[in-house]
Amino acid sequence: MINWIENADLSSRNSLGFQVSAERFIEVDTVEHLELALNDVQHNQWSLLLLGGGSNLVLKPFIPGAVISVNLQGINILVDDESSAIVEVGAGVNWHQFVGRLLEMGLHGLENLALIPGNVGAAPVQNIGAYGVELADCFHSLTAYDRKTAELVQLNKDDCCFGYRDSLFKSREPGRYIIWQVRFLLSTVFSPNLGYRALSDYFDQQAVTAPGAYDVYRAVCEIRQSKLPTPDKIGNVGSFFENPIVQEEQYLQLKQRFPNLVAYPDAPGSYKLAAGWLIDQAGWKGHKAASVGVYDKQALVLVNLDKGDSEALLGLAKSIQDSVMEKFSVSLKMEPRVYPA
Ligand code: EPU
Repeated sequence: MINWIENADLSSRNSLGFQVSAERFIEVDTVEHLELALNDVQHNQWSLLLLGGGSNLVLKPFIPGAVISVNLQGINILVDDESSAIVEVGAGVNWHQFVGRLLEMGLHGLENLALIPGNVGAAPVQNIGAYGVELADCFHSLTAYDRKTAELVQLNKDDCCFGYRDSLFKSREPGRYIIWQVRFLLSTVFSPNLGYRALSDYFDQQAVTAPGAYDVYRAVCEIRQSKLPTPDKIGNVGSFFENPIVQEEQYLQLKQRFPNLVAYPDAPGSYKLAAGWLIDQAGWKGHKAASVGVYDKQALVLVNLDKGDSEALLGLAKSIQDSVMEKFSVSLKMEPRVYPA
């Protein structure tokens, strides 16, 4: 028997801080419990939302059906040799706390992903990335509950089809797998990844030539805090749009019209544009639309200013998309998921 919580308040479980009520909600930390909850969902034909840290979701005020949150904890070293280790982590572990724990354990590779909000179980879904590193770089494998076959399955890196802010779980098989535990392959030897401009500039300014793991971790935290709002204080979901990828021809035309365009070479023949720059240039940075707005230090981040809701935020997002399309002929794709769609 599952004791569903009815009319559950999810306002502290979504990083936008929206007032959201779920018809029913349950937190699970055993497979038996998960299966019981899924049986209820199937039997009653409820719609289902799997909630992680709620940091990449735009929730509408009422969530019909059921919401399940996986709260499995635990960080365990599985294999440990001289140069590397495989660490297994429960889906409910907070991502940033996990990154901090790895530092204490002397295991390296994820320092650049410090302070990303959300839980470990949600991290593979959009292949979280920041400052030149993405989850896939240190990913080993994961255990997930397959709703199609009703069993736990092991998926390796290739199975997960990771791409830029993308994976099997996001685009190919949404809703099929419930991520239960994630395994990372980490190094016992630290070698800094300073390929991202903001990070290398940070150390240049401080005249640090060989930063250690803690230095990189602290630098990432500092840079993030200077540009991105803390969700406890100002509701947000990080980047609201993906950085758009355009073909070389369009990039060259744009570069001619806008010589300051910020872009990075992507796959051969294509370029990734900085969406934050496009939105900023279209005049949106710091814009306030009553209850919601555009963050004044990073135009790619939309914020809940005061009792905002999904309708206000999606309205603002649409206006931004239209204006970037008009000025640059570039289409911006939303990064967070809207639920119910
Ligand atoms: N820019 C502006 N104006 C702005 C914002 C940015 O001109 O208002 C310019 C910056 O000057 C810079 C460029 O755009 O030249 C890129 O900005 P930034 O370094 O802040 O990174 P981003 O491309 O906007 C991406 C990720 C972030 C991640 C950072 C750092 C996406 C969609 N976003 O942002 O991820 O933290 O790089 O690696 O890829 C997230 O996904 O929630 C997220 C925060």
